[in-house]
Amino acid sequence: MYSSKITGVGHYVPENIVTNDDLSKLMDTNDAWIQERTGIKERRHIKKGDGNSTSVMGVKASKIAIERAGLTPDDIDMIVFATLSPDMYFPGGGVQVQEMLGMRTIPALDVRNQCSGFVYSVSVADQFIKTGMYKHVLVIGAENHSGGLDMTTRGRGVSVIFGDGAGAVVISRNESNSAGILSTHLHSEGKHKDELALQGPATDHWVPEIIAENDQENIPYYPHMNGQFVFKHAVVRFSQVIMEGLEANGLATTDIDMFIPHQANLRISQYIQKKMGVPDEKVFNNIQKYGNTTAASIPIALSEAWEAGKIKDNDLVVLAAFGSGFTWGSVVMRW
Ligand code: ACO
Repeated sequence: MYSSKITGVGHYVPENIVTNDDLSKLMDTNDAWIQERTGIKERRHIKKGDGNSTSVMGVKASKIAIERAGLTPDDIDMIVFATLSPDMYFPGGGVQVQEMLGMRTIPALDVRNQCSGFVYSVSVADQFIKTGMYKHVLVIGAENHSGGLDMTTRGRGVSVIFGDGAGAVVISRNESNSAGILSTHLHSEGKHKDELALQGPATDHWVPEIIAENDQENIPYYPHMNGQFVFKHAVVRFSQVIMEGLEANGLATTDIDMFIPHQANLRISQYIQKKMGVPDEKVFNNIQKYGNTTAASIPIALSEAWEAGKIKDNDLVVLAAFGSGFTWGSVVMRW
């Protein structure tokens, strides 16, 4: 059996910066409230006409990751695309990337696992490489949230948190001296599906039905989040799945060289960090600049941490995510 390893990372965020003060002009909110509760100072939003979309941002991040892996799009054997905000209801973002990068007729798979989408996708790629079926898998996390948020006071509990962007990695058959991806761990608990959800449009909630059945104060085609419930579950599940990953490899929290949590909320990341006793220099957060970019948050953070020289060869890197579903997971790897 083969092992897999991340051989290239890249990210792209739109140029348009939206500060908390900018949001306070659209809705009843303020910088102090947002920073105190979430740590977010600003986020990026696609601007109409700037040419960006979920798949376009995914392509921009992918080009960087592929180049850093020393490869060309022709070398990629499979695309795994994680998003909750695809350009179209169907087909998915993977086939759009395949077209835009002029790739061979390789498989393109979309993963719909929200904030855990990237961790799930890394696990999928890892399995395909371990079996020897593929040599290089492009894994993308990309989101265009700004197009689908309620930017009025009614939506402020959700809209201030999310931002747009994309990250990508190439996962290759491991031919290095480091162990590469040691293990991945995935979970779900569907009984909490309504706590963080966007009901429609979908086959159960088509738009005419939504409009007919709901008053304008309760519109299910904007995301709904039971924030405190999500917070309580997130801190428990994050910690459990990190420990599961470490213990599966005979490791402890003191072995971690770099911990990259899904950028859900700075308070959640800090809570887990404290609980696990991981020092500041071994945790990478960038939610302050980008908000929560769901499936894109880990690969954007991974790419920035790598660019800043914070991840070195053979470092023990731990990724962990929790999100809507609920779904959660972790990846433990040697860089
Ligand atoms: N600006 C100002 N006031 C606001 C805002 C806002 N943007 N949003 C809500 N409020 C108000 C509410 O209306 C409420 O007012 P009221 O007391 O008069 O009714 C008050 O602030 C408190 O609202 P809560 O929802 O109770 O605020 P809370 O302290 O729980 O903070 C938050 C909300 C930040 C969402 C918090 O619950 C949280 O951190 N939850 C974790 C969920 C999370 O991070 N999700 C990220 C996405 S999911 C994921 O990635 C895993």
